[in-house]
Amino acid sequence: MRPKAKRRLDACNNIGDLRRVAHKRLPAPIFHYMDGAADDEISLGRNTSAFDDYELLPRYLRDISSIDLKTRVLGADLDLPFFLAPTGMSRLFHHDKEPGVARAAAHHGTMYSLSTVGTTSIEDVAGATTGPKMFQIYIFKDRELTREFVHRCKAAGYTSMCLTVDTPLAGNRERDNVTGMTIPPRFSLASLWSFASHPGWAFNLLRDRDFRMANVAHRVDALKNSTMRLMDYINSQFDRTITWDDAAWIIEEWGGPFAIKGLQTADDARRAQDAGASAIMISNHGGRQLDTTPAPIDCLAPMRDAVGDGLELIVDGGIRRGSHVVKALALGANACSIGRPYLFGLAAGGEKGVSRAIDILKSEVERTMALLGVNRVGDLDASVLHKAGC
Ligand SMILES: Cc1cc2nc3c(=O)[nH]c(=O)nc-3n(C[C@H](O)[C@H](O)[C@H](O)COP(=O)(O)O)c2cc1C
Repeated sequence: MRPKAKRRLDACNNIGDLRRVAHKRLPAPIFHYMDGAADDEISLGRNTSAFDDYELLPRYLRDISSIDLKTRVLGADLDLPFFLAPTGMSRLFHHDKEPGVARAAAHHGTMYSLSTVGTTSIEDVAGATTGPKMFQIYIFKDRELTREFVHRCKAAGYTSMCLTVDTPLAGNRERDNVTGMTIPPRFSLASLWSFASHPGWAFNLLRDRDFRMANVAHRVDALKNSTMRLMDYINSQFDRTITWDDAAWIIEEWGGPFAIKGLQTADDARRAQDAGASAIMISNHGGRQLDTTPAPIDCLAPMRDAVGDGLELIVDGGIRRGSHVVKALALGANACSIGRPYLFGLAAGGEKGVSRAIDILKSEVERTMALLGVNRVGDLDASVLHKAGC
């Protein structure tokens, strides 16, 4: 890495700083696609601000000489209590794309999740790292494609799967309408200046122009005489008829650790348990689907009450500080997952930028635990929390 790029990353003290660098380095349509959310973006803001409703109660004069962050979730032993959630189209943000992100995750001993709509294949990500890997699946109308993913992930050594259920149709991302964002990006008159004024991003584009959704592209190639574009194919594949029976079917096909991603209610948590899931990623898709849904952290307690210890609960969304991870664990989460924080890092500096994002959050988690007088993730409980205003 060039010294200037390294200095730029080293100067980032927190995830907010990485976001600012990402904003500078990406053409506006790409940045806003990553950063934006649905409708009025109420959930986007609330996902993070809800953590402020829980204050931390420090406890001193305890031996805090060692802080152990080891966590077991979805059948994987992690060195950190958070992992990287699935995000599509990483090539948009940096040419290191999915393998770079997966290597950074493995370097820190945590899990990488590959999205169905990633720009690298299941097999190529598996070849890039031996770290724990989850594959995020949709149940497409073409059930054979869904089944094909399961078999390929088994063969490639993925440790777990998650089924994303909060995207039966695409959310209303108005920033994308304003900027003219399309996938893959097209150089319209409106966005031309933005692309032209980001020579670093444009130069990297020339190094690798492959924006293909690598796991589904072969299906489009196979559609004989079809003029269908890839994105149209994906949208045409979202199936509005799927139900819990289909979820149970895919969980059984996989036969290993399996999370349902995108649930927010106690009732759905019970249904996930009945369907045979081993975990739930409590999530509103980072506010990108249905706006004004509650913050995931606020859904945790009722969902835990509903399923007891029977299911692993993962808080997904809004995490921008290590203290947010600690609060989720103290409220009963088994782990957390992050999306934009590592994407900001990816845009800011490729694999090294992702590493920087993970490093920042890791040291914040360690510092928070030390100041709370807690040595191990498993020892965190509600006694370290105070509900603000009470
Ligand atoms: C640019 C972007 C792309 C995403 N793509 C996917 C995806 O392909 N599949 C999926 O299940 N979730 C996707 N998500 C949602 C993330 O997995 C995660 O739920 C969300 O980012 C968590 O919120 P956070 O960004 O505040 O951490 C995406 C999120 C972003 C920001």
